[in-house]
Amino acid sequence: MSETAPALYGDPLSSPAVFHAPLHSASMDAEWWRSSVIYQVYPRSFRDSNGDGTGDLPGITAELGRLAELNIDAVWLSPFYPSPHHDGGYDVADYCDVDPLFGTLADFDTLMARAHHLGIRIIVDLVPNHCSSDHALFQAALAAPKGSAERSMFIFSDGSGADGSEPPNNWQSHFGGRAWTRTTNADGTPGQWYLHLFDSTQPDFNWDNPAVRAEFERVLRFWLDRGVGGFRVDVAHALIKAEGLPDWGGRADGGSSEGFPGSEAPMFGQQEVHAIYRRWRGILAEYDGERILCAEASIDPLPRLTDWVRPDEMHQAFNFAYLHHPWNAHALRDVISSSLTAFDAVDAPTTWVLSNHDVVRHTSRFGLTGGAPRGGDGIGRSDAQPDTATGLARARAASLAMFALPGGIYLYQGEELGLPDHTAMPEDARRDPTFVRTGGERLGRDGCRVPLPWLADAPLYGFGATGDDTNAVPQPWLPQPEGWAGYARDVQSGDPDSTLSLYRTALQLRRDLQLGAGSLSWSREFETTDTVAFLNGEVLVVLNMGEFATPLPTGNVIVASTPGAVEDQTLQPDACVWLMHAAG
Ligand code: GLC
Repeated sequence: MSETAPALYGDPLSSPAVFHAPLHSASMDAEWWRSSVIYQVYPRSFRDSNGDGTGDLPGITAELGRLAELNIDAVWLSPFYPSPHHDGGYDVADYCDVDPLFGTLADFDTLMARAHHLGIRIIVDLVPNHCSSDHALFQAALAAPKGSAERSMFIFSDGSGADGSEPPNNWQSHFGGRAWTRTTNADGTPGQWYLHLFDSTQPDFNWDNPAVRAEFERVLRFWLDRGVGGFRVDVAHALIKAEGLPDWGGRADGGSSEGFPGSEAPMFGQQEVHAIYRRWRGILAEYDGERILCAEASIDPLPRLTDWVRPDEMHQAFNFAYLHHPWNAHALRDVISSSLTAFDAVDAPTTWVLSNHDVVRHTSRFGLTGGAPRGGDGIGRSDAQPDTATGLARARAASLAMFALPGGIYLYQGEELGLPDHTAMPEDARRDPTFVRTGGERLGRDGCRVPLPWLADAPLYGFGATGDDTNAVPQPWLPQPEGWAGYARDVQSGDPDSTLSLYRTALQLRRDLQLGAGSLSWSREFETTDTVAFLNGEVLVVLNMGEFATPLPTGNVIVASTPGAVEDQTLQPDACVWLMHAAG
C-alpha cells in the first residue's frame, strides 16, 4: 500500500461530524459484542505445556488469568482441530474434535470452565469454505465415482480441452498456482478435477448441496452445546460460487485485479451466501448468552462488507480497510469516518483490528518506510528491515488511538508485548503454503506466528516447558528471533512504561469510561494535516502521525503512548495521548 491517502474512502469532511456506536439495549452485557475487546490466540504459538515445541490448550488454560488482566471480553481461538497442518490448521480434518497436538476435548472443556470462571467468552474458528483433503468426507468423495453423492459434497468437474487435461476454468489459488487439482482414478487413469481456492490440500465444499449445509449446522450445534460464545467465520464471503464457474481474470483473493473489481469475482460475495448466515443467526438465537458470528470477509468497498452484518446476519465483521491504513493522518481519518458511516447504516458496530495471524504485525509494518507488504507477503532477510524503535512507537500510538474508538476491538496475541515480526527467519524454517506454492517469491505469514516470549531468562523465552526428565529444550515449531528477552511478559509485567502496561492501563480505562459504547466526533480544532484528533465523551484523543511536535490543548493527560509523548504542552511525533477535555 502506498503512503499516500487512497481515494477509496471518500472525504471525511463530507461525513457526519458525530458517530454513535449503535446501542440498542439497556444493559451493556446484553449486547456485549457491540463494544467488546476480543483477543486472538494462535494456539500453536501461545504456550506449550508439555514441551513438544507446539503450544496447546492446557497452555492457554494456564495463562488465561493473564489475559483477563487485559480486560478482554472474549478469546478467539484459531483452529485447534485435527489437521495435517498444511495451512496452520485452517485445513480441518475433523470439525468436532481436538488435534492431539493441542490436547483433547476434555482439555477444551477445562479451558471453557476456566474462561467461564474469569468471565471470558471463548469464540472458536469455523472454516466452512473448505476442509482438509484428509477429512473423511473428501476421502469418501475421492473413492466414489463421478456424479456420486459423495462427490457432490465438493466441487468436482471434468477438465477442459480435448482430453480434459486442462483445468475446468482459469481460477488461481489464493496461495499461488492454479485453484484446481486433478484426481487419479482407481485404475490409475487421470480423473476429474476438484476446486481449492487455497492449498491443494484444502478442497472447497459445495454449498449448493443441502447436505453440506446440514453438516455445518451439526458442527455449529456441537460447539454451541459445549458453551462457546460464538464463531469467527473463515473466508465468509467465498462459500457460494457463481453458477457455471466462469473464468475470472483476477487472483482468488478478493483483492481487485486490473480491470476486475474484487466485487465482481465469481468466487466471492455472491448474494446467495447471505441466506446461510441468516439461518446460522437463527440457530445461535436458540442459545442463551448472546453467542456471536464474526465474518472474515475480504470485501470492499466497506458499504458492501456491511451486507454481512445486517441485523439478521452476523454480529461483527473484520474491518480490513482499517487494518491496512498507512501511517498517514488523512488516510486514517478517512477510513475511520467511512467505517463508522457504513456500519452505522446497518446498525452494526464497527470493529477495529491492527494485527492478526495473516499479516505482518503492525509494529513491523509501521517501521517500514516504503509501505507495508500485502497480506501473505512477509518480510524476509533480504528485504529492507523495519526500524524497530519507530515501529514500536507508532504501534503503541496506533493501538492507543484504536482503544478509544467506539465499537469492537480485536487484538492479536503478542501485540500487547509490542512484538515485531520475525523478519530474519531462515527460509528453510518457513511453513506457510504461500512460501511453498510460490517457490519462495511470496514469503508468507510465518513471521507473525512465532512462539511467544513469556520469561526473559528461560530457554525459548519460557514458551515451552522443558520436555521430559532430561530437561532437553524442545525445538519450537517455528524459530524465535535472537534478542527477544526484552519483549518477555515477565519483564514487561513489572515495568510501568512497558507496552504490556500501556495495554493494561488503556484497556482498563476504555472499559471504565465505556469508550466502546461511546461516540466519536472529530475535533477539527486540534486537527492538523498530520494529526488525528477526536472526542469520545470527555476524552480527547490526539495522534501525531507527522514529523514535528504538535501543540496540545490544556487538559489532564489520562494516558500517553510513551513516557516522553507529552512535553511542554506538545505531543511528540509518532505518539498518541488521551486528555480529559473540558467542554466549551
Ligand atoms: C483465512 C485464514 C487464513 C487461512 C485462510 C484459508 O484467511 O485467516 O489463515 O490461510 O483463511 O483457510
